Amino acid sequence: MGEATPFQEAARRVADGADPRAEAAALVAAMTDEERRWCLDGDLPFWGGLEDLGAGGYHRRTFPAARVDRLGIPGFAFSDGPRGVVIGPATAFPVSMARGATWDLDLEERIGEAIGTELRAVGATLYGGVCVNVLRHPAWGRAQETYGEDPFHVGELGAALTRGVQRHAMACVKHFAANSMENARFSVDVTVDDAALHEVFLPHFRRIVDEGVAVVMSAYNAVNGEWCGQSRALLTDVLRGEWGFEGFVISDWIFGLRDAGASVANGLDVEMPYRMIRAFGLDEALAAGECDAADVDRAVTNTVATLLRFARVLAAERPPLDVLASPTHRALAHEAATKALVLLRNEPVDGAPVLPVDLDVARLAVIGALADAPNLGDGGSSDVWAPEVITPLAGLRSLAGPDRVVHHDGADLVGAAAAAARADVAVVVVGYTKADEGEYIGGSATAHLADLMPAADEPEVAAAFAAVLAADVEPFQKPGAAPGEDVGFSKGGDRTSLRLRPHDVELIRAVAAANPRTVVAIVAGSAVLIDEWHEAVPAVVQSWYAGMEGGRALADVLGGRAEPAGRLPFSVPAEEAHLPPFDPEADAVTYDAWHGYWRLARDGHRAAYPFGFGLGYADLAITGAVAQLDGDDLVVSAGVANRGARPGVEVVQVYAGAAGAPRRLVGFARVEVAAGGALDVVVRVPRERLARRDPASRTWLPAAGSHHVVVARHADDDVAHHLVVD
Ligand code: BGC
Repeated sequence: MGEATPFQEAARRVADGADPRAEAAALVAAMTDEERRWCLDGDLPFWGGLEDLGAGGYHRRTFPAARVDRLGIPGFAFSDGPRGVVIGPATAFPVSMARGATWDLDLEERIGEAIGTELRAVGATLYGGVCVNVLRHPAWGRAQETYGEDPFHVGELGAALTRGVQRHAMACVKHFAANSMENARFSVDVTVDDAALHEVFLPHFRRIVDEGVAVVMSAYNAVNGEWCGQSRALLTDVLRGEWGFEGFVISDWIFGLRDAGASVANGLDVEMPYRMIRAFGLDEALAAGECDAADVDRAVTNTVATLLRFARVLAAERPPLDVLASPTHRALAHEAATKALVLLRNEPVDGAPVLPVDLDVARLAVIGALADAPNLGDGGSSDVWAPEVITPLAGLRSLAGPDRVVHHDGADLVGAAAAAARADVAVVVVGYTKADEGEYIGGSATAHLADLMPAADEPEVAAAFAAVLAADVEPFQKPGAAPGEDVGFSKGGDRTSLRLRPHDVELIRAVAAANPRTVVAIVAGSAVLIDEWHEAVPAVVQSWYAGMEGGRALADVLGGRAEPAGRLPFSVPAEEAHLPPFDPEADAVTYDAWHGYWRLARDGHRAAYPFGFGLGYADLAITGAVAQLDGDDLVVSAGVANRGARPGVEVVQVYAGAAGAPRRLVGFARVEVAAGGALDVVVRVPRERLARRDPASRTWLPAAGSHHVVVARHADDDVAHHLVVD
């Protein structure tokens, strides 16, 4: 063994209790100016990197940054998410929105562990998949990458993922902040007042910072007149000043900052992923006094201190590549897809609900092009190259056997209806793909950004990267891709409609007219408005981009092997007009505190399907509830009874607000109850969750006066328990 490097020695002292920041400061003091500046951005050349990224390099290798060999500083190696690791043939889990529908924090933590293991196996040390921007409007193209519309629910799930991942690697939460539209993400300025920002758009980030997340990624958009990647208000005043964040901040990719000086001075630690704005602009910025040497040192110290803090975790041996999509991880993806499925409607036909279907005897017609298409979601930065995808058709065939399941692609309505008429049950799979919603690059929002690109790469940096590419003799290939197929980013963007395509609606109507036992499975990353057709069919499930095992999960639930346990992580409004305004091309937009179920409540609109809603096959009820104060906690206890003959699942949801204030989710508990069984649930709510932001002082006002507490199965529950706590 060689001698320990200065970094290893510092890491050993940190493991023995030394202060990581002081140790990092000493390492930074030992760096040359050039080394310090090397740590301020990604280690790859701009043009060479971009070319590789466009050709699918994104799925083949990590993005390295901040490595200084002379001192043994390992830097970090980034790979993306959130539906799994995007490098190599990894496990494709259901998208985050589907996982939000599980309300299962233990499951999300286990997914985090699996992802952390796969991440290390492909050589990465930083996972970019904790995406928690709240869903302000269902048209947002990247809705599927987050967990839902409610800040508390989103924060708990993101914290669970972070806990799991960080047993093996560092995690990065994104996009900080108020990033909830896609087409205009590079140009839009979001104006938002202090109360709305802190009560609605930031609490989940704070929750994950409190969980100890290593890294924060800034957003592309501007907030209150400054780009997030160089916003002192967000990166320094809130993140460091108010919240005490101790990790480091990276930019979103390529266009996440505009000015070298302002970004360094205001709190962005590492520009990602290439040598771009800082590499070519910092000299000038220093000379102009836009930032100074102390700012540079602070940024590098933030990064090195975090690397020291995680040195022990990252010293663990790299797992073998066969952990990628291993049977255990696929079983977890299957479990998640099963728990995510939301049963929206299940009406009786001939006296009994149409679901579950007896797959041992029923003849099925599975209809729609999406029934037989691998459809994992977005084709941008979250795309996972899964080695196999179980489609709805494959899942149903594997449970029901191939002979009783026919497929019709639905293009011809008459043929589809005829196939449905010959079956006992028709399952229509409709919805969206990555062409309809997803990450978006291009359009007018990026046209003006060409000026930010450097004229040419630095020769040594370009040569080093060329050597990396040359050494990669057997790079990962996209499973099933034809030679020469374009495996780069697809173009999704914000949705242009919240409804199904007219052809899909006609297909549903034609099939339902031919077979009264018609079940519709909706594939989408967020809410789809279905009021124009849902009464034509007895059963509807929201089946998501359900990951590589999604088809098996659909079959399990439709066939009754598993309970439909998912609950909507957003509201499905009755009509578009009940949502906040959404202009995908806006350059400027104002966000207030009103979206989601609390906006519907304020305006007196009932949701078509409320936040938190989902049916089961079992017959569960919340039988009673009490709430009392215990020190700094509000303690809510409730009974859950299962009156039926099947095991069931309930998600007990606690909503609270001061008199006159909106009632928001403040706690929840997912419980499984045996057939005929009952159990007690206790939800502890720290009272600080009820505090309100005071915009004048920019501080929190503790909860005062009496609070209205609602214990419910969803946000619009007519049989909820209403309690008052003084
Ligand atoms: C996305 C981020 C992603 C990054 C790196 C960006 O375009 O906005 O979510 O983490 O690329 O892949």
